[in-house]
Amino acid sequence: MNPDVQRLFHIAAKKERLVIGLMSGTSLDGLDIALCRISGHGLQTHVELLQFTTVAYDAVFRNNIKSIFSKKEIDFEQLCVLHPWIALQHARMINDCLQQWKISNAAIDLIASHGQTVFHAPKNLHPSDNFGNATLQIGDGDHLAVNTGIITISDFRQKHIAAGGEGAPLAVYGDYLMFSKKNEDRVLLNIGGIANFTYLPGSMDNAAIFSTDTGPGNTMMDAVMQQHFNNKPFDAGAAVAKQGTINQQLLAALKDHDFFQLPFPKTTGPELFNTDYLLQALHQSSTTNISWPDTMATLNRFTAETIADAIIKTTPHPTHIFTSGGGMHNPLLIQHLHDLLPGYSFNTTSSLHINPDAKEAVLFAVLANECICGEGNVIQHGIKGMPNVAMGKISFPH
Ligand SMILES: Nc1ncnc2c1ncn2[C@@H]1O[C@H](COP(=O)(O)OP(=O)(O)O)[C@@H](O)[C@H]1O
Ligand SMILES: [Mg+2]
Repeated sequence: MNPDVQRLFHIAAKKERLVIGLMSGTSLDGLDIALCRISGHGLQTHVELLQFTTVAYDAVFRNNIKSIFSKKEIDFEQLCVLHPWIALQHARMINDCLQQWKISNAAIDLIASHGQTVFHAPKNLHPSDNFGNATLQIGDGDHLAVNTGIITISDFRQKHIAAGGEGAPLAVYGDYLMFSKKNEDRVLLNIGGIANFTYLPGSMDNAAIFSTDTGPGNTMMDAVMQQHFNNKPFDAGAAVAKQGTINQQLLAALKDHDFFQLPFPKTTGPELFNTDYLLQALHQSSTTNISWPDTMATLNRFTAETIADAIIKTTPHPTHIFTSGGGMHNPLLIQHLHDLLPGYSFNTTSSLHINPDAKEAVLFAVLANECICGEGNVIQHGIKGMPNVAMGKISFPH
């Protein structure tokens, strides 16, 4: 028997496992590395977050990804060489972290790698009836396994699509396993580049659970900061947006898109919500002469309103909202959400014992645990748009 198969068998049978969850979203800010101790599986999953860090990407890394990221036309050779290169960078970051944390690679049971999304194309974003849902994450799992010596589970989204989903949001699975609570309706809201939420009914009725993207999180605000504010990566503390005034004409034009009329659940990406989208709205509303701070103030409100609209439209209210992702550090955005959702209670996932910056990475660690130790049916009675399959591909180091 291949010794790695034997090792995997042993890992699957262990009482608890050390799993490193990796997440790099559409914000291209850095690699989130979450070291988790996980026991059990399914609704008995128990997760303890032992270590967490975000290794910031430098300009070289960011520009390399940006050269092919969510673009219809790219240099194909660049895509090809980045697939292993990103994995090698991620492997180096993991090895450095483990050294800093004084943990040997041999002590880690699994890596759960999301990879870097370079294109997300659900049917609602591409015109051809001949093709189905599609998404592409790069940063090859074999390279991670060989360069860390750790069995790696990667490329989670393909199985989801193969089984009938859109490949996103995958957060619903981990949210369901970790945060469902009897008799309490909960909304788990993650504000990354794109914003999404999972609704977990206190009735524990699986048929009522769902997860959806709502539209942009930080992605359009980040793009404006990078283009018009000296390449600043984001609007830290909403300092710029706070100086501006919301422009109602622009706001209405931003919200005037078919995406917001599509039924829930749905997914999207920076393939749609980008600077072209903004330019079109500026022209449509004849507001091309407004200041960049006014544009930022309006984009900030746009994110908040589209999140609040989606929550109000689809969940009983008021509910308990638990936030995560970088957007929760944007005080103006959070203030807007409080104003738009009166009566709702707001907490971060810290109150559920998961560091909100680490949440997405932890969710992938849980998916990897489910892939190896689950019984193949993550959600026993099925959730709308969420196929009941174990996700991830297995890469052995040897
Ligand atoms: N202090 C802050 N003030 C305002 N925005 C912030 C702050 N910290 C992080 N962010 C926002 O969060 C984004 C990163 O969020 P993250 O959850 O990592 O997204 P992704 O999953 O897309 O990588 C940044 O690009 C930025 O827009
Ligand atoms: Mg990030």
